[in-house]
Amino acid sequence: MKHQFIALSLLFLISTAPASAQPAASPAPPPVMVAAPPVPRVAVSPAAVSPAPDSPPPPAPPQANLLKILQKAGGFTVLVKLLRGTHVSDQVDSQLSDLNDGITFFAPDDAAFSALKAGTLNSLSNEQQVQLLQFHVVPTYLTVSQFQTVSNPLMTKAGGVGGKEFPLNITTKGDRITVFTGVDGASVTKTLYTDGSLAVYQVDKVLLPLSIFSKGEDLAQGPAPPKKKPVELSVSGSSQVRKGDVIRLVVGVGVAGVVASLGL
Ligand SMILES: *[C@@H]1O[C@H](CO)[C@@H](O)[C@H](O)[C@H]1NC(C)=O
Repeated sequence: MKHQFIALSLLFLISTAPASAQPAASPAPPPVMVAAPPVPRVAVSPAAVSPAPDSPPPPAPPQANLLKILQKAGGFTVLVKLLRGTHVSDQVDSQLSDLNDGITFFAPDDAAFSALKAGTLNSLSNEQQVQLLQFHVVPTYLTVSQFQTVSNPLMTKAGGVGGKEFPLNITTKGDRITVFTGVDGASVTKTLYTDGSLAVYQVDKVLLPLSIFSKGEDLAQGPAPPKKKPVELSVSGSSQVRKGDVIRLVVGVGVAGVVASLGL
């Protein structure tokens, strides 16, 4: 046993003999040992090294919050409500926390919303409301001076990837900045907020995308009626009426609703 062990050990030594023991054409330079610089020992209290297990992580640099900016500015009640309802404000905030080109947001004030034809917002489906709000979001941070040189058309968040269906054109004339949607033009009336990654500008009109609204002020060809649930409506119908009557009733209510919401 002992001999076997020695033999094996020798075999091991021979087989693992360093390559440098053999004559080599280009011997590798000996490894340079670099001593790590001594770490200065600073006396720290244990609390500073290991925070309490359930203490929050160190606060991130304060990040802009679109709703807070609008609420602080005042006069954006309708916009804030819509941004909340559609969760588009959450999308803006989360996009700001990602690495990106920043965001420019056009904020129509309450006067801009009340200038819309009665029922315009209610006539939009949920998806169209989201698109309308996202149409006010340009995924690039633009300063007032950059508006002078911006290359049109600008893509908005409404068009999904590429944003091609929901473009905006921005033109400037002196200090006057106009945002064209294809339906209408809105003027930038005020800079509400800029921090290098988020810019919020007040506009005097709601930006109406051409793919939802028709050109011109009349909305006769305007938004497609939201999908109503016939089931809900037919429940209110008399149980005596025949099936055909219920359907006619539902259609009648649907058309009346759309006509009313268009203000016709
Ligand atoms: C933007 O400008 C281009 C070029 O003038 C034009 O073809 C396009 O229709 C405009 N789009 C909008 C949304 O105004």
